[in-house]
Amino acid sequence: MIRKILKWIGGSLLAIIVLLLAGYLFISWNIGQRTEKKYDFAVQSLAIPTDSTSLSRGEHLVVIKGCIECHGKDLGGKLMMDDAGLGRLVASNLTKGQGGLPSDYSTADWIKALRHGVNREGKPLLFMPSHETTLLSEEDLTAVIAYCQQASPVNSSLPTNELGPIVKVMTYLDKMPLLAVEKIDHNLPMIAKADTTVGVAQGKYLSVSCVGCHRAALKGGEPLAPGLPPVPDITSTGNVGKWTQDQFMTVLRTGKTPGGHQISNDDMPWKMTAQYKDKELISLYQYLQSVK
Ligand code: HEC
Ligand code: HEC
Repeated sequence: MIRKILKWIGGSLLAIIVLLLAGYLFISWNIGQRTEKKYDFAVQSLAIPTDSTSLSRGEHLVVIKGCIECHGKDLGGKLMMDDAGLGRLVASNLTKGQGGLPSDYSTADWIKALRHGVNREGKPLLFMPSHETTLLSEEDLTAVIAYCQQASPVNSSLPTNELGPIVKVMTYLDKMPLLAVEKIDHNLPMIAKADTTVGVAQGKYLSVSCVGCHRAALKGGEPLAPGLPPVPDITSTGNVGKWTQDQFMTVLRTGKTPGGHQISNDDMPWKMTAQYKDKELISLYQYLQSVK
């Protein structure tokens, strides 16, 4: 009897292992197909400005949109992670130095990346938040491109990307923004110019940078990955609804909450939000207060 039960358990375990392995092989194949898929988008042609106002706007956006967080302060590229489970991920060198963008990388190539989430060959960019940059106004998108195009060349030798099993499984379950190209509405027209006066409209435009973590409704949710803190509700129904504008600004500039909790920059990028201008933080506060 015992032998029979043990045999049965052994058999079931084996069946489970075979099933898991088959499942993983399927997921790995599926992600392989999706990352190698070639897209062909009609790229809008845009004039890139050269005036100093646009360049300094571009510089500000490159800071507050986190480009330098991933691509490095000098835009020379960065190894973002290198881990057995997650794999290796490199944010490209965006300059024209060695190991950077090819010398004939054109404005159309920039637009493919920032509006559509693909490289110049039409293949998906991995982990590049193009689903956010695609929502920039034409004025802001062209300012970002203008600023990046005149960046001083940086020489860097960076390894290639390699996806680990955790990233593949989480992408398959739609828990990780690996393939922005699949999340973008490619037919959505670009707005010409964003409202830059203090108020709810500007706050809403800026909140595109928050929804990736705080979720579409900004009501927070489960941790972004196992081991990380839960993501808080940042609308009027969360703590932000109780905080004054000054308290809110202090949280986004120092990571320290009125309750005395110190937020780690790895969990919530407050070193990035610290660079927002006063009028941008006030607009965000007003917008978040308006979300019921
Ligand atoms: C969360 C990290 C992250 C942020 C934020 C980010 N990028 Fe990227 N970006 C990446 C990664 C990773 C790649 C490389 C993708 C690949 O190789 O598949 C990339 C690729 C690119 C490319 C394509 C380069 C090529 O080889 O074709 C451009 C252009 C680019 N990023 C510009 C920007 C700009 C401009 C910003 C800010 C508005 C920005 N990125 C913000 C991670 C990021
Ligand atoms: C990379 C993910 C990420 C992004 C992007 C992000 N946040 Fe957060 N945020 C978090 C996490 C996680 C916490 C909780 C940290 C903790 O509990 O230590 C948090 C905490 C906060 C808090 C404190 C809330 C509370 O109740 O304590 C505020 C306010 C906040 N974020 C606002 C924003 C705003 C505004 C933006 C966009 C400009 C933004 N966050 C972008 C992940 C993010």
